[in-house]
Amino acid sequence: MGTEEQGGQKAADKIEPAKGKLGVMVVGLGAVATTMIAGVEAVRRGLAKPIGSLTQMGTIRLGKRTDSKSPLIKDYVPIAGLNDLVFTGWDIFADNVYESAAHAKVLDEKTLTQLKPYLETIKPLPAVFDQYYVKRLNGTHVKKGKNKRDLANQLIADIRAFKKTVDRVVMIWCASTEIFIEPTAVHQSIEAFEKGLKNDDIAIAPSQIYAYAALSEGVPFANGAQNLTVDTPAMIELSKRNAAPICGKDFKTGQTLMKTVLAPAFKARMLGVRGWFSTNILGNRDGEVLDDPQSFKTKEESKLGSLDYIFQPELYPDLYKDLYHKIRINYYPPRGDDKEAWDNIDIFGWLGYPMQIKVNFLCRDSILAAPIALDLVLFLDLAKRTPSLRSIGIQEWLSFYLKSPQTAAGLYPEHDLFIQSMKLKNTLRHIMGAGLITHLGLEYYD
Ligand SMILES: NC(=O)c1ccc[n+]([C@@H]2O[C@H](COP(=O)([O-])OP(=O)(O)OC[C@H]3O[C@@H](n4cnc5c(N)ncnc54)[C@H](O)[C@@H]3O)[C@@H](O)[C@H]2O)c1
Repeated sequence: MGTEEQGGQKAADKIEPAKGKLGVMVVGLGAVATTMIAGVEAVRRGLAKPIGSLTQMGTIRLGKRTDSKSPLIKDYVPIAGLNDLVFTGWDIFADNVYESAAHAKVLDEKTLTQLKPYLETIKPLPAVFDQYYVKRLNGTHVKKGKNKRDLANQLIADIRAFKKTVDRVVMIWCASTEIFIEPTAVHQSIEAFEKGLKNDDIAIAPSQIYAYAALSEGVPFANGAQNLTVDTPAMIELSKRNAAPICGKDFKTGQTLMKTVLAPAFKARMLGVRGWFSTNILGNRDGEVLDDPQSFKTKEESKLGSLDYIFQPELYPDLYKDLYHKIRINYYPPRGDDKEAWDNIDIFGWLGYPMQIKVNFLCRDSILAAPIALDLVLFLDLAKRTPSLRSIGIQEWLSFYLKSPQTAAGLYPEHDLFIQSMKLKNTLRHIMGAGLITHLGLEYYD
């Protein structure tokens, strides 16, 4: 039994140790993916610190505040070590990771030159791609198949070949945002989806073919973009059936990260919000893809959702019923990966008196996203080795990293960053058999 500050304790899960090599299959070796891979190599060589990565730098408090016990997460839970990560991936361009990173211009030349011999060894496999789903790209390094089933089989063959060289595999989508697709009948069951693959159903985008291949092979899958990919009944069923964990989607990096920090503060203090205008300039390839209205719509849906869920206007109509929320992403090549975001927030306080907050975030998109991608890979692999997590499908505790958390049917997603952080750490305590931390703490005043 735990104390008042600690919730109930349970026996630790029999988590399989992180033995051997963890293979990371990255879909899309662009700015985010190359920044993650180069970053992991830089950390392995002692050239830099893994700043922004909770798995590498975060600690977890165990027991009472007076116990002074806060080990590093990576020492407490059996996650794979960075030295055991092996990367491979797919892209629609044949550039190796060094060339692609040089093109993305996120990391400076000096760093890339130091890492060049390693980065050059990672060459993409030909991708599954169709320009119908990403209008602004035209790839040359692409698989050919007689239908989508055939393409899925080719990806499965890639996974099986890679599996022979490593001990475990995780897949992560770091490829471009696809056009907005609504779920249809083809997404409602595994059988319907498999039929759809054979019939080249238009509602099955490439990201879904990768996810299908991964989950069919029992490989966990994370989605860094907003595409409809594993958030369908068919993929949830496949994830559970094959013990291949999945989670929500779209890395929560710049502006949305700020939103999910500020909005909970306003709500906690019962401050009203009348308007929230968010605009961005961004000049990387992602920005170019998002310049297409159909890809932007996919992104917009993801960015819009968080405020509604955090504010709960149905519970607080006086504060949030009339909130006007507007989001703009503008492609502006001179800035490259260095995004600039502005938020104007019109809030109101006591007796309805108006106030304003301006946020101007000059961030680096891929520098913020890379540690998230790494953490998702490591935690999904942990979930796969954890008996109480591996077959539940959606790992809601990973919502912390994502703009669109995925939940069980009928549950609203939790967007508040601090609730998400508590949920993540309590999940780690739970699987390790430690008491949960509720922050009640009355026992200190007995
Ligand atoms: N950087 C961030 O802060 C952030 C935050 C949230 C989400 N994202 C998303 O992460 C994804 C990656 O971002 P990025 O900045 O690295 O973009 P990027 O354009 O630099 O890289 C995407 C790569 O995917 C490749 N690609 C496209 N379709 C493919 C397919 N079907 N198969 C294999 N490869 C394919 C492209 O050729 C490109 O190399 C984007 O969808 C972006 O919206 C990024």
